[in-house]
Amino acid sequence: MKTVYVLNGPNLNLLGTREPAVYGSQTLADVEKLCADACEKWGLKLEFRQSNHEGTLIDWIHEAGKLHAQGELLGVVFNAGAYTHTSVALHDATKGTGITLIELHISNVHAREAFRHHSYLAPAARAVMCGLGVAGYPLAIEALTRI
Ligand code: DQA
Repeated sequence: MKTVYVLNGPNLNLLGTREPAVYGSQTLADVEKLCADACEKWGLKLEFRQSNHEGTLIDWIHEAGKLHAQGELLGVVFNAGAYTHTSVALHDATKGTGITLIELHISNVHAREAFRHHSYLAPAARAVMCGLGVAGYPLAIEALTRI
């Protein structure tokens, strides 16, 4: 059974109360349940995590990279939050591990402020998904099974 990492960056612990008009009213626990159901459906093991700290997220990408090297990782779904738009280090971590990573956003970042239009992660990602609300998470897990 292969593992999928679903990683969430800064402020995603506030889902449910954070700008519900943008991010909806479901909590991160609800999102974890959506991911757990998808992983059960596709016969995958789930590692679901959230951190507000860039270094912790980098460590988790490295951890996923070790599983990848052992042939035990299907891929990573990563909502890096605002670090998407700022972090060369997350780009480098992703490239350095060779993992299959889907960059995910709940909102359509391209329909929002200009500073959200650039992603440091996208060039290191296999695919980018955004604007599907939290339904994007199980869809991204399914996408990992199909690519
Ligand atoms: C986000 C979009 C980012 O621009 C923002 O900083 C977030 C959430 C999203 O899921 O839509 O924190 O990644």
